[in-house]
Amino acid sequence: MSFAITAVPTGSLVAASILSADFAHMAQECRDVLDKGADLLHVDVMDGHFVPNLTMGPDMCRALRRHFPDVYLDVHLMVQRPSDYVDVFADAGASLLSFHLEVSGPMRDGGEDAHALIDRIHGAGMDAGMVINPPTPPDGLEPYLSKLELVLVMSVNPGRSGQKFIPEVLDKTRWIKKRIGPGTRLEMDGGLNPQTAPQAVTAGADMLVTASALFGAVDRATVIDQLHGAGS
Ligand code: DX5
Ligand code: ZN
Repeated sequence: MSFAITAVPTGSLVAASILSADFAHMAQECRDVLDKGADLLHVDVMDGHFVPNLTMGPDMCRALRRHFPDVYLDVHLMVQRPSDYVDVFADAGASLLSFHLEVSGPMRDGGEDAHALIDRIHGAGMDAGMVINPPTPPDGLEPYLSKLELVLVMSVNPGRSGQKFIPEVLDKTRWIKKRIGPGTRLEMDGGLNPQTAPQAVTAGADMLVTASALFGAVDRATVIDQLHGAGS
């Protein structure tokens, strides 16, 4: 599966993060934001180790794929051992699997071999992404950039939705933007809303994740429109 989403010509893609949806009405929540213009669904997987929280796993991804056969499913792994989850998420219908630079060697003792992991993700038929946390310098990403369909810059420390945007990540975003090719998406995640999104887009982000600002809004369509137009 290659990155099949077509960019909105003058704007950014909006990735609806289901972490802030009403879990008891997940299908209706996703249908609603997709009908209102969200381009794809962002699935936050937390293992209770890399971050303290526990969220959802491959069964949620499989259920979304069953209900939404054509929607791009962007799975963000906040887990210590992403290599344990490549095959299960491929089987569950994920379109893209992203993992954190912080769990890769040499950043962590016994860390994952990121080159091998990217190759496995591709071999399993998915797009591959790498994610970087706010305090982490970006140079560790450099060896992988040419192989990735997506780089995800966290603009909050991962673990939950509803946190405040950290503007210090914008410098790093510009640094990454200069080094990726046109085939690589630059996604930003955390604290994005119509007020903060223009800074993200101006720094180079072309895919905006939103959870609380979207699912918590009374007028979700307007939030999506504003994010699509951010920075233009
Ligand atoms: C944070 C997750 C985000 C989160 C964003 O750990 O990776 O995707 O859902 O939530 P908001 O948009 O509310 O900051
Ligand atoms: Zn996320």
